[in-house]
Order: sequence, then C-alpha cells, then structure tokens
Amino acid sequence: MTHYQNPNDAAQLPAWQLLVKQREAMQSFSMQEAFAADPKRFERFSLNHDGLLLDFSKNILDETTLNLLMQLAQQSQLQDAIKALFNGEKVNASEQRAALHTALRRPVGDTLLVDGEDLMPLIHDVLNKMTELVNRIHNGLWRGYSEKPITDVVNIGIGGSFLGPQLVSEALLPFAQQGVHCHFLANIDGSEFHELSQTLNAQTTLFIVSSKSFNTLETLKNAQAARRWYLAQGGTEACVDRHFIAVSSNIEAAVAFGIAPENILPIWDWVGGRYSLWSAIGLPIALSIGMSNFKELLAGAWSMDQHFQETPFAENMPVIMAMLGIWYSDFWQAQSYAILPYDHYLRNFTQHLQQLDMESNGKHVRQDGTALNYSSGSVIWGGVGCNGQHAYHQLLHQGTLLVPADFIVPVVSHNQIADHHQWLYANCLSQSQALMQGKSREQAAQELRAQHLPESEVQRLAPHKEILGNKPSNTLVLERICPRRLGALIALYEHKVFVQSVVWGTNAFDQWGVELGKVLGEDVYQRLTGHVVQQSTDTSTQGLINFFRSRHRG
Ligand code: F6P
Repeated sequence: MTHYQNPNDAAQLPAWQLLVKQREAMQSFSMQEAFAADPKRFERFSLNHDGLLLDFSKNILDETTLNLLMQLAQQSQLQDAIKALFNGEKVNASEQRAALHTALRRPVGDTLLVDGEDLMPLIHDVLNKMTELVNRIHNGLWRGYSEKPITDVVNIGIGGSFLGPQLVSEALLPFAQQGVHCHFLANIDGSEFHELSQTLNAQTTLFIVSSKSFNTLETLKNAQAARRWYLAQGGTEACVDRHFIAVSSNIEAAVAFGIAPENILPIWDWVGGRYSLWSAIGLPIALSIGMSNFKELLAGAWSMDQHFQETPFAENMPVIMAMLGIWYSDFWQAQSYAILPYDHYLRNFTQHLQQLDMESNGKHVRQDGTALNYSSGSVIWGGVGCNGQHAYHQLLHQGTLLVPADFIVPVVSHNQIADHHQWLYANCLSQSQALMQGKSREQAAQELRAQHLPESEVQRLAPHKEILGNKPSNTLVLERICPRRLGALIALYEHKVFVQSVVWGTNAFDQWGVELGKVLGEDVYQRLTGHVVQQSTDTSTQGLINFFRSRHRG
C-alpha cells in the first residue's frame, strides 16, 4: 500500500477564491426568479441513476456557481483521491489504514490487489460463511440448548455495529423472511436490556456480539449481561456456543470472552465501523431479509460506486451533493444540515447519517495535521416527514439560521392505504416548494386584507406571516424502498462525505475525538464507585460524583 497524502488547503485554491466572490454575486439570487426565467431549470439541475432521481434545482445555484464548485473539486485532486480510495491506499493516514468498504460490494469474479494480495477471496469466503449460517438459522437447523430452532436474534453492538444494521433491517422490513426477529441492544443503560429481555425466550434466542474492536465498553457489558441472563434462564455453559456468536476483527478477544472460534465472523481493519454494514457486521440484515436480498443491497451500493468512479463530476450525484454542502457550510455559513426522509421505513436514516457524516467530517485538522481555517462537517439532524412539519420545520421556514435540507421520498409505498401515499408525497414536495418560494410581506398583507382586517392589523400581522423563502434543498426520489435502491442511497451519502473530506483535506476515516470521553469515563467510574478517593480535577465533576454517591449510600 502506498502512503496517501492530501495536503489540500482548500481556501488557497483558485476556485475557492472565486467562490468567495461568487457568494457575494449570489447575495440577491432568487430561486423563484431563476425558475421563472428558465423553464429547463429542473432538467438542467437534476440527475438519474439506477432508480434514484436527484433534483438539486431548488438550490442557490446557477451555471457559474456549479462550474466553480466543480473546479474546486478538480483542484482538490478529487479524481486521484477516488482512485486512492477504491485501490486501497491508506486514505486514513492517522491510523495508516485503507478504507475499503467499497471492496465489500464488488461482484464475484472481481480482483482487488492490495499489497500484492487479492482481497476478494477473503470477502467472498465470509459472504459464504454468512450464507451458510443464515440458511441454517432460517431452515431451523441451528438449535438452542433445548433443541428448539432460533426465533430471535439480538445484535449487541453500538455505533457502526448498530446504526447501519438497524437502519437497513428496519428499512427493509417488507422483505423480512418469516421466522426470525432481529432486535438491537446498543446502550449500556440497563433499562434497554431489561425491556428487551422481557420479550425473549432464552431457548430460542441467538446473540450476535458485534464489535470490530471487541473492546467497546457498552457492547462488552451488554454481552456479559446477556450471558448471565441466558444462564439464569436455564441455558447451560455447554451450549453457550449455540446462543452466542461474534463479528469482530479482534478474534483473540472474542475467544477470550468465550465465543467459539468457529462462531466468529471476521472483519478487517480496512473497514471503518460506520462503513461496516456491508461486511459481516451486516449479519442481522442478512438474517432479517435473507442472503439474496443482502446481495442486492451490495449490488445497489456497487452500482453507486461505479457511478461515483466513472461519471464526470458535473453529473456525479455524490460529487454534486458534496459540493453543494460545501457551498452552504463554507460560503453561506450554514452550520447544520437536515435529512428529512418521507418514509416510515427510513425513520432511522438520519441517525445513521449522523454517525456517518459527523464522525467522518467532524475534524479540525487536515491529514497533515495543519489546522483548518474554514468549516468542516455540519450538524446533521432531522427525522421522518410529515412528523417534522408539525415540529421543527417552523425553524426551517422562518428561523434566522440557514439550514439546507435533503428530502427523501419513494414513488411507491409498500403499504398503500387509501390516498395516504399521494398525500405523503405531496407534503414532501410542498415543503421544499414552500422553503424555496416563501411568502412576501406584500402577499401576506394582501391575504390579510382579503379577510377584511383593518389596515393597522394588516400591518401588525404581515411581518409575522412573511416567509423569506429562498431556502435550499435537494430532493431524492427512489422508485421504492428495496435492497438495491437502499444500497445505492447509503453509498451515495458515504461518497458525499468522502468528497467533502477530500476538499477540506481532512481524514474521513478516523475518530480520535471519541477516545477522550472513553478514557475519562473510566476515570469517573473509578471515583463514582469509590475505587479512587482522590478528588476530580474540576469541582463540577466532583460535585456531581458526590451527589450520586450521597444518594447511593446504604
Ligand atoms: O466510539 C466510536 C466507535 O469507535 C465507532 O466509530 C464505532 O462504530 C463504535 O465505536 C463501535 O465500535 P466497535 O465495533 O469496535 O465496538
């Protein structure tokens, strides 16, 4: 593997300087006027790939801006970076690792030589093991300690070993195979374990301890709790291997925990946690929807991978979305980004993107360690539509912050009830339309006059009813939520995040920030439990420790 270098200081690039000027020139750009002036605006600023439509016409965007954004991508040597990513160069420089989640989606027959070794046989060997395991469980051949078939699978994992698998299993519930229910246990909060275990029968439950590092506190604590629970329910030590399997790159630690070596599915250090749902970490997905659907998910992602690698930047979905994100965060000072899926099955999509985007792009230095003098990742938030319309959309419409948004909606619902889906789709479209159009003060005043209000009332109320509009959004339309389209959708965002990191010059694949909290957590725990009597270095933490201890006395 060669050492990847990306010393980009984006702000020094000629295109960045031109974009600073372009930002000023676009100050009074009106989307509404742009639509009125150009009947082809939608055609011009929308793209299709493999059942996915991206409409990016409702943005503060003209041809000049788009050209400059694409120049910025070029000048950031994005093409080389994409090659480096797919070829297995060490794009994660601080950990000296490749980030080869795309390899997991390559079709059978492909080769991928990294350091002289073809990785594809390793990947397909694990896929075969997954297939065998899934078939045994689905066919009732995997038996618990009392010889009953498995009915419930509990994935014990957190972060990337939870969010991706949970998102996909739940999003693809209409494709679920009969017989096996998947559950997720992530938090160390005992209440989560308590509530879940109430619904389970130890005789028919299989636990997957899912941890790349096999060193994550929450996961190990929950795995120990699950084991105690299994034994307390009548399970035997001799049959632990019928009820506990693991997915990890730390085979030694998994064995030391008591997982039988033949029950451990490997992953590799070149798969990042938040990019790992395509690996054996995706086992709960495969158990839920079956292996052929899991492979369709991979195929959808691979189709997006090819689009990303081969399509010119100006027609490349991840590149366009990434550069628009940079346009708003670095030139319009947008600090947050809303993800608004209009589909019940995608209700966990925003949470998955929170980890994907914020853990990847929440960085303050470049790959070479120099400090950024511009913004990197935004706060990702949002949730399922229409619910958000009756909660936080008000801030999008009339707040003082600029919040770009992605609306995501399928054309076809899995559950057509009367005209609900038409209403859902209409709401999705009308929200982005309202954000774009707004309502002028004069329009608001006219509406009030039409209600025959006195002019003093009209003047008093009109400012409150004015909606400035010109708020940017993308709309992503999927033909329907199915394994292939979902695979492509998730891969689209993975690449969006990567492109942004390349332009910013940051490392999208490390997450050193989360480590400090883990270390301090250990320290506070020792004080809380009285194992360390020495005072904490700050009085706030010590005061809170004292309060806890005073309530736990006796
Ligand atoms: O603490 C953050 C993190 O390291 C994530 O990046 C990762 O997805 C998660 O913890 C879980 O890690 P593991 O799979 O090693 O238990």
